Formats: sequence, structure tokens, C-alpha cells
Amino acid sequence: MSNHIAAAPDDIAETVLLPGDPLRARWIATTYLDDASCYSSVRNMLGYTGTYRGQRISVQGTGMGQPSLSIYAHELLAEYGARTLVRVGSCGGLQESVAIRDVIVAMSASTDSSINFLRFHGLNFAPAADFTLVRAYVERAENAGVPHHIGQIFSTDSFYLDRPELHDRLRDYGVLAVEMETAALYTLAAKFDARALSVNTVSDSLVTGEALSSDDRERSFAEMVELTLDTVTA
Ligand code: HPA
Repeated sequence: MSNHIAAAPDDIAETVLLPGDPLRARWIATTYLDDASCYSSVRNMLGYTGTYRGQRISVQGTGMGQPSLSIYAHELLAEYGARTLVRVGSCGGLQESVAIRDVIVAMSASTDSSINFLRFHGLNFAPAADFTLVRAYVERAENAGVPHHIGQIFSTDSFYLDRPELHDRLRDYGVLAVEMETAALYTLAAKFDARALSVNTVSDSLVTGEALSSDDRERSFAEMVELTLDTVTA
């Protein structure tokens, strides 16, 4: 057991999907995994291990924001030997060309968090995805005809960001969408020499104000998770 995950050392697979919402972790495990069992429910941050097409896969809720994700990602990498972490999340679209339901494949992540500022003594570290995972996911998205965008995401510490001019600036610099976790995930994967990818369905548009209904949210999330499972078990 680690500080926040009540699992035995071998309970967790080397490949872990990371939804923010723990109930999404349960939904993924019960919908897609064979022989899924719950290895931890500490703080209700559910984690499951099962098999997908015969390969061992875990799904761990991370909570919202970089501090929460960092706790779970760190413990998975440092104490349970995780080698491939894929965030399956949602995001707000920042560009007109980004429609709700599209998938954002985050190649790199800017952030307003001070975590990396402190970690790198004021230097601007550039958190980036694992290229092999980006390529494999994008190949599958293309084959399945799933609308997607590959590029930069913004990981904010403030969902209720009171700075519309910051979103304008990020839009001008081509940032595709905003969410709250990816920069920390990519940084920790780099620290532990592991692979990471963050894929996010666009749940709302910061350009048009449009938002997905909960049914549509679930449908586009399911499509993204299926592509992710195909990618990590190929
Ligand atoms: N901001 C931050 N995170 C998000 C958003 C947003 O607008 N939408 C979905 N996740």
C-alpha cells in the first residue's frame, strides 16, 4: 500500500488509464475489462485492474487538477512500477476549429501552475507526450474517422479562470484547449522515464459557449476510451 492507493505491489498493471472522475474509472473497468477487480477505494478514488483482449490493464481515478493527479501518478510510477500512463479526460476548446466532441491529442502542455517552476528552479520545462503513443493513437483515430486535433494544450490550476485575455493570448499562439492535469502527467512520466499520453474529448467550447449534454459526453468519452485501449494493447 502506498500513501493514497491501497493495493498490493502486483495488483496494478504496467499500463494505466487515468480518468479524472473515479466513477469513470469504474465505468471503464466494468464496461471494457474482463475480470476487473477494484484494488483501491481510498478516498473513493477508485482503481481497477482487469484484462482487455488478454492484456493486463489498470484504470485509476486521479481527481481534478495537477496536485491531485500528481499524487496518483507519482505513486503509480514510483511504487507500483507503472510504465505507460494515459489520461482520458475532457477539455474546453480554445479554437474556432475545435468542435465539441472532437478529441485533443496533447503533444505538449503549457501551465500556469507553479509546480514545475519550483521543481526546475524557475526554468520553463516543456512537458511533452511520448511520441510512439501519439503516433499509435492518431493512426487509430484516423482509421476510425474520429475527428481529432494534435497539438498543444493548456493545463490550468483555475477552472474559473478570471483572465479572458489569457485565453485570447493562448489562442493566438495556437493552443487548442484547456484542461487541468496534463502538464503534471507529462512531467512525472519524464522523471520516471515512463511513457505518457493525454487524450481529451472537448466537452465545452470557450469560443461558442456550447457544451456537451451528459449523454453526448458519455458517448464521445466511450469512443476515445476504446481507441485508447486499442492503442495500448496493440
Ligand atoms: N477549463 C478547464 N478544464 C476544463 C474545461 C475548462 O473550460 N473544460 C473541461 N475541462
